[in-house]
Amino acid sequence: MPRVAYVNGRFIPLSRAAVSVEDRGYQFADGVYEVIALKQGRFADEDGHLDRLGRSLGELSIAWPMPRPALCLVMRELVRRNRVRNGGLYMQVTRGVAPRDFKFPPPRVRPSLVMTVRPANLDPVERLANGVRVISLPDIRWSRRDIKSVALLPQVLGKQKAHEAGAFEGWMIDDDGLVTEGCSSNAWIITRDGVLVTRHATTAILNGITRQALLRIAGTLGLPFEERAFSLAEAYEAREAFLSSASTFCQPIVEIDGRPVGNGHPGLLAQRLRQSYVDGVMAGSPVI
Ligand SMILES: Cc1ncc(COP(=O)(O)O)c(C=O)c1O
Repeated sequence: MPRVAYVNGRFIPLSRAAVSVEDRGYQFADGVYEVIALKQGRFADEDGHLDRLGRSLGELSIAWPMPRPALCLVMRELVRRNRVRNGGLYMQVTRGVAPRDFKFPPPRVRPSLVMTVRPANLDPVERLANGVRVISLPDIRWSRRDIKSVALLPQVLGKQKAHEAGAFEGWMIDDDGLVTEGCSSNAWIITRDGVLVTRHATTAILNGITRQALLRIAGTLGLPFEERAFSLAEAYEAREAFLSSASTFCQPIVEIDGRPVGNGHPGLLAQRLRQSYVDGVMAGSPVI
């Protein structure tokens, strides 16, 4: 089944989908994006992702490419045309196409909107059963990490380093030795006292939509949690560790920098949080 992309008003075979070489996303990374998981035909946290898209656009003074309800219709039509039930939708909005010039183009230049959908296994049985490894890396990003910008070069380099080290993710460490987040996920630990800890949402991290959902779940389940920074040393001593993102939901970590986390097996609390998150997604209505 050939894949279909959406590019600036048209549904086009992915192999022919293209934007101008003068798109500001291509030349300046002047744009933002969202990834929304599709689980058995249901979007996971659609509203949260679109709210954050609006926030990222607002922070950069980029206009919505179309009204939000219309965007939701395009998302559904793209999913339908690709017949993907499990996977992810990628959406990118840039400041548009204009002759290369750093300052903003005139208002008549419209934002570019690109969307793709791709199938993915959201229940990787082996990875969930075995857990994953992470390594620590210096955080070399800019200071507005709360904006989901397409400028991802530090994360590209970090993920490659992690991959070369046989790890699934890189945990980035700030100048104070504190964990900010993963290259494409939020970082969590559960302390020896059983307290769930993830970094508080400031400009230092991306406030993950999955992160927010897991915090709400923790509240509902009555699990003690703290939103604060934690050091690598604290993570090494943690009872459990896991990461969260739209594409992994909640993934247990069994090793940090080659040191086993807790008993070296996926943590029970992380598994419980994952299950609650998935239950919440499955309670939604399918779009396909
Ligand atoms: C740097 C970073 N932090 C956190 C996340 C997790 O965010 P979300 O749960 O909204 O996918 C991502 C996701 O791509 C990310 O790139």
